[in-house]
Amino acid sequence: MILSGKAKLAGVMGWPVSHSRSPRLHGFWLDRYQIDGAYVPLAVPPEKISEALRALSSLGFKGCNVTIPHKEAAFEAVDRLTGRAKKIGAVNTVMVDENGGLTGDNTDGYGFIENLKAGAAGWRTEKPAAVLGAGGAARGVLVALQDAGVKNILLTNRTKQRAEALAADLGGIEVVDWSERSDCLEDVGLLVNTTSLGMSGQAPLDMTLSGLNAEAVVTDIVYSPLKTDLLLKAEQRGNTVVDGLGMLLHQARPGFAAWFGVEPEVDDALRSFVLEDL
Ligand code: ATR
Repeated sequence: MILSGKAKLAGVMGWPVSHSRSPRLHGFWLDRYQIDGAYVPLAVPPEKISEALRALSSLGFKGCNVTIPHKEAAFEAVDRLTGRAKKIGAVNTVMVDENGGLTGDNTDGYGFIENLKAGAAGWRTEKPAAVLGAGGAARGVLVALQDAGVKNILLTNRTKQRAEALAADLGGIEVVDWSERSDCLEDVGLLVNTTSLGMSGQAPLDMTLSGLNAEAVVTDIVYSPLKTDLLLKAEQRGNTVVDGLGMLLHQARPGFAAWFGVEPEVDDALRSFVLEDL
């Protein structure tokens, strides 16, 4: 690690923040690119988030990531928003400009699409995509899919009103009953799980894939376990699967580039390093 008096500083604000993989991930890149800088965990309670973000500039920070539960509060606290942050309604990356102003970006959807492109070269945006879940993570995925040119999106969620509200807000999305989630897969080119189902310690995702066509790509934003039951089932049928770890790795790239001035690469060495600690 290089850490001089001129080191560039960034970090991640969360509450709690101890679970965050971001310090490990950015630390790997700082070492790899021999950058004079540091990326630190910042445990910030919810009532202090605005104050903490404002302090970034006084402390000489280049910016930070914000994670649960601060993404919506950061959206309100920054001075400017990128277009994608506006659409998603939440901020996960903050940049401090030369005058101390704060720009809020959201790179979750970017990370999702980059991961998909890297893991499923054959994925075609012309085909419909089916998305499970209607929480904050789903919103990022839906915006990213629309921005990538997917015209046809099926959205299904246990609480239908939530899916309907999201569909009404974003437009061009068809809501399907949760009970029909296994029966709407015939034409889809992409199936995405954005719910917490299938995550270690959570209920399993009860889903039948027999109606899914063989060319469809299946991805899960859950990365613990790395191969969720959904991905295992899809893989057994011969579908291309993309695990959720790459989304975490790719979403970190724009922030790193902005703060430290190097476009970082996602590769197997980084994946293995982050995996060792999952
Ligand atoms: P996030 O911001 O990570 O998306 P969230 O807003 O809590 O988190 O959303 C979690 C998603 O998982 C929701 O789509 C939720 O469905 P509801 O809107 O009906 O709550 C879904 N989810 C969680 N537990 C579930 C379960 N047991 N069965 C079906 N869906 C579930």
